Amino acid sequence: MSAPATKLGFDGRIAIVTGAGGGLGRQHALLLASRGAKVVVNDLGGGMHGDGGGGHRAADVVVDEIRAAGGVAVANYDSVENGEAIVKTALDAFGTVDIVINNAGILRDVSFAKMNTADWDLVHKVHLSGAMRVTHAAWPVMREKGYGRIIMTSSAAGIYGNFGQTNYGAAKMGLVGFAACLAEEGKSKGIHVNTIAPIAASRMTETIMPPEVLARLKPEAVSPLVAWLCHESCTETKGVFEVGAGYISKIRWERALGARFGESSGFSPEAVASRWNEITDFSQGEYPSSMHESFNAILQGGK
Ligand code: NAI
Repeated sequence: MSAPATKLGFDGRIAIVTGAGGGLGRQHALLLASRGAKVVVNDLGGGMHGDGGGGHRAADVVVDEIRAAGGVAVANYDSVENGEAIVKTALDAFGTVDIVINNAGILRDVSFAKMNTADWDLVHKVHLSGAMRVTHAAWPVMREKGYGRIIMTSSAAGIYGNFGQTNYGAAKMGLVGFAACLAEEGKSKGIHVNTIAPIAASRMTETIMPPEVLARLKPEAVSPLVAWLCHESCTETKGVFEVGAGYISKIRWERALGARFGESSGFSPEAVASRWNEITDFSQGEYPSSMHESFNAILQGGK
């Protein structure tokens, strides 16, 4: 299919992009600004492992880039842990907020055996609490105006699991649950919440992937999906998308048809073991997309 004839514009829209001083966030900010959005470029300018911070340069450079191209942007240097201050920057500069792209992130990769509580807490503070804090501050504004577009940035590390990333994977999967619940709460208020699981060349991945692979993973190959999900004409909400290298695909939960045990037929550990093939058989899988669908099928359906 060819691209839609009408160019998708963001005139009059106010967007916050967290962690927009580099990598994926920078590309999201540049794309939205080039389409008319006024952008808050947030970045505390820290190291990849949550070290340092307090540098203004990362955000300033992107703001300069946007302005040089004729766009409108302001910088914010707060940590996402201080989400209210980031939203305040949008309100002070532009009077409202329509779009929040939760993108800021750090890594503290270490095997679980060697991980300490600080590694766990810091990753959760930035990814999960940070996204919550920024979103929580923007939420009343969006509810009041009956409009909002929110993006969470998850990761295949959480969805599929990855050695050395228990802290990161847990926080990233937490964002999937956060987004799913928030999407339900936003439905009646015109607020859509979607999640991306990107893969892209950035300082986060440059040491773990070979150059020829990185060359195919340009961060700008993720941003068109983000922009579409943030557009007023996009009705998608509660979606989770894998995206990278120009490939985009929606993912969803699948449940095996399963097995039903009655008291009369015996419900014992042995009975469970004897029907394990049925419990794990996806040949007739189904795809519940809400709590309601899930419960209904459990209470009424099944074998
Ligand atoms: P990056 O390291 O280039 O960008 C992250 C940005 O967030 C940095 O500019 C950093 O200064 C900023 N940041 C860190 N902590 C912050 C805080 N507390 N407050 C405000 N800003 C903060 O990394 P990249 O690859 O662009 O990552 C962007 C997002 O995408 C992250 O959430 C990451 O976990 C996620 N992601 C990236 C993947 C990839 O392949 N690059 C894979 C899966 C997920």
